[in-house]
Amino acid sequence: MAGAFITFEGIDGCGKSTQLRILASELRVRRVEVVTTREPGGTSLGRKLRAALLDVDEQVDPLAELFVFAADRAQHVRQHLLPALAANKVVLSDRYADATVAYQGAGRGFDRALVQELVQLATGGLKPDLTLLFDLSVPESAVRTRKRVALKHTDRLDIEDAEFHTRVRNAYLEIARAEPDRVRVIDARNSVPETQELVMDIVMPFLRDRGLWS
Ligand code: TYD
Repeated sequence: MAGAFITFEGIDGCGKSTQLRILASELRVRRVEVVTTREPGGTSLGRKLRAALLDVDEQVDPLAELFVFAADRAQHVRQHLLPALAANKVVLSDRYADATVAYQGAGRGFDRALVQELVQLATGGLKPDLTLLFDLSVPESAVRTRKRVALKHTDRLDIEDAEFHTRVRNAYLEIARAEPDRVRVIDARNSVPETQELVMDIVMPFLRDRGLWS
């Protein structure tokens, strides 16, 4: 598979979506062919699934939630990610399979082997080439998500309690420890420009090594 698949992960409020947008525009300025996408909601079907999954008024059973995230991903991989990578694009995805390991595995408490099996089925084995994990403590992220709550830009998982988000954060850090070559941890306490500099310091050499930027 050509191109490069870069995923952005972290707990809610870590700032990954802002960093993804900035990186995409920095890469376009440098004439790198970029595709931006996200999970859930990277396809037309996925946008419908996203609306249902994140609706604060919906009572979603945890097992149903696990399956719907997997369904969104199955569609996303086959309809969008594989064709973009085959066309040699640099694909930036706001969340991917690590989110299921962290949120449904550690957060909701589903068995690790079951989650891994579902991830394998949904992705067909497609792994990110690089994952940027924006790490922030739960209290610090809560300050940011509280602003969203006030603006009513919140979703069903944002309003889970601090213990849930602590389990999610720890699971992400564990993934990073297990796969240090793929997952790079970025301290997300810094300002947006400072964090962006950290992102560029990781991504540009990575793209140069793969012959996607010179
Ligand atoms: P996200 O789009 O990152 O939310 P926002 O744009 O509001 O920051 O993710 C939406 C929510 O979905 C987020 O709380 C994490 C959750 N999620 C899972 O629980 N499992 C998954 O596999 C994915 C992809 C997301």
